[in-house]
Amino acid sequence: MRILMVCLGNICRSPLAEGIMQAKALEYNLNIEVDSAGTSGWHEGEHPDRRATQTASKYGVNISAQRSRPLSTSDFDQFDRIYVMDHQNLADAQAMAQPHHHTKIRLILSTVYPNNTPAVPDPYHGGDEGFDNVFHMLEQACDQIAREISQR
Ligand code: 4NP
Repeated sequence: MRILMVCLGNICRSPLAEGIMQAKALEYNLNIEVDSAGTSGWHEGEHPDRRATQTASKYGVNISAQRSRPLSTSDFDQFDRIYVMDHQNLADAQAMAQPHHHTKIRLILSTVYPNNTPAVPDPYHGGDEGFDNVFHMLEQACDQIAREISQR
């Protein structure tokens, strides 16, 4: 199974989601591939935001080697599941995808909150505590995804 994590810049939320999901794959011994991308190409080629890297590192997850890339139309063929962080990401990703691929695209917190699913808030313009909050939300979501896949 191939899983793609998507946010706006691919320097804060989706790199954390990618790193956490990879750690869960090891922990649960899952045969999955994980990648991430941004709905914008604003930070293409950049490493994750330092605050994201530091927060991940605090919890034993290394995301420092990742590089931002924009979401591409071929991603909808290549990946089985595309998890987005917020409702704007969802709209932007759906607008790029063919209708038959729309069911692959889900809000990542729908795994934890299937009704009235909240967004993973964009921490870019806030302080360090926003990254900690995002980390814990993503940790919950990725754990749920890993449990669900391991029970299949
Ligand atoms: P991300 O956060 O979507 O979680 O990577 C952002 C990164 C950069 C910008 C916005 C959000 N930006 O405006 O450049």
